[in-house]
Amino acid sequence: MDTTHLSKFYKKSHIEKIDSLFLAGVISKKEKDRLMSQSLELDVDTGNNMIENYISNYSLPMGVALNYVIDKEELVVPMAIEEPSVIAASSFAAKIIGSGGGFKTTVSQRQMIGQVTLKNVDDIHAAVKNVEDAEQAIVERANEAYPSIVKRGGGARSVSVRILEDDTDSGIPTFLSVHVHIDTQEAMGANIVNTMMEGIAPYIEELTGGKALLRILTNYATECLATATCEIPVHKLKTGEFSGEEVRDRIIEATQVATIDPYRAVTHNKGIMNGVDAVIVATGNDWRAIEAGVHAYASRSGQYRSLTTWSKNDKGDLVGKLTLPLPIGTVGGSISIHPAAKLAHAILNHPKAHKLERIIVSVGLAQNFAAVRALVTEGIQKGHMGLHARSLAISAGAKGDHVQQVADILKKSKHKNLQRAKNILLNLLDEFDR
Ligand code: MEV
Repeated sequence: MDTTHLSKFYKKSHIEKIDSLFLAGVISKKEKDRLMSQSLELDVDTGNNMIENYISNYSLPMGVALNYVIDKEELVVPMAIEEPSVIAASSFAAKIIGSGGGFKTTVSQRQMIGQVTLKNVDDIHAAVKNVEDAEQAIVERANEAYPSIVKRGGGARSVSVRILEDDTDSGIPTFLSVHVHIDTQEAMGANIVNTMMEGIAPYIEELTGGKALLRILTNYATECLATATCEIPVHKLKTGEFSGEEVRDRIIEATQVATIDPYRAVTHNKGIMNGVDAVIVATGNDWRAIEAGVHAYASRSGQYRSLTTWSKNDKGDLVGKLTLPLPIGTVGGSISIHPAAKLAHAILNHPKAHKLERIIVSVGLAQNFAAVRALVTEGIQKGHMGLHARSLAISAGAKGDHVQQVADILKKSKHKNLQRAKNILLNLLDEFDR
């Protein structure tokens, strides 16, 4: 990638942005032409076949975050999101983090977990033993239920059992949950796992004497984890009246608050998910699955906590770390159907699932850094209001150059509301007519 073409990206016109991605080698000529002709919409036929009762498409803006250096590789990251300032904050954070060497990532194995959950198991301990003794046979039957994943090098690997006992004192009976650990290769794997669970359920019933109540994957993908770390030189943190050391310590303290206060933790983690979801959506992945799993992971200690940790190292630099369960896929679902998702994968140079996990967790860490840094220094409203002013200008009916002109006047106005934006626009149009 030749990043020289990407400098001052935000200042370029829409067409220049697309052209510079092409010149930098991020997208091909074909992708450039598709972007120029705006032909990334789902066509009616595809939409109609994707969901029931289809009537139209719902568009989100898609942009790119710049300056990412992940495991020494420079990357441009596609993001689809309606919230102003997320992509700007992401690029800004990636630049500062890049000055400290960028993100270093690790990933666990990629195994999804399927659950067959049984009720009416009379002898729970005998059932557990029977399942454990039959592990190999269960694995084989699961693989027989979905042979193509075995051909692709994946498949069921092992089995474990959990006794689910009431911890609420509300008279819930005991259930038994049989977990099958499955390598789904490049797929997120919901269909693979669910087919396997439905396939083995009668055998599990035989082994346990119980009745299968649920046969489905868990979105709590604790065996599909990705971790990003970064080290930010303390002098790079200096901003306004705050020294680098002050900013560093305030970021550490703000994260301590989010570690012990669930009210703050939810918002802190929402900031992480601003980045994570935007990449998940752009790459055609199931953001509900990721959201559900991530928030369960944030509660793994028994209390909902910050997903990131920030500390300082011996040099006094700021050290960040984020681990997330990321059961994403690079094949299946809408990934190979949706034209914009296909473009997002092309922008990332068609990463394998493990690499996409590394990218997403890095974006989450960057987004958290950007948000908390702003919160503990100048506050986020200053940056937000600039973009909010543009949204108001558009809502007021401004088009083309008028959007920025209205926004600039609005930013300096005492009242930053729609009525004021409309008045400013009318004045500008009047001047234009004169
Ligand atoms: C806004 O979308 C996200 C933040 O609220 C995150 C945070 O508070 O850390 C700014």
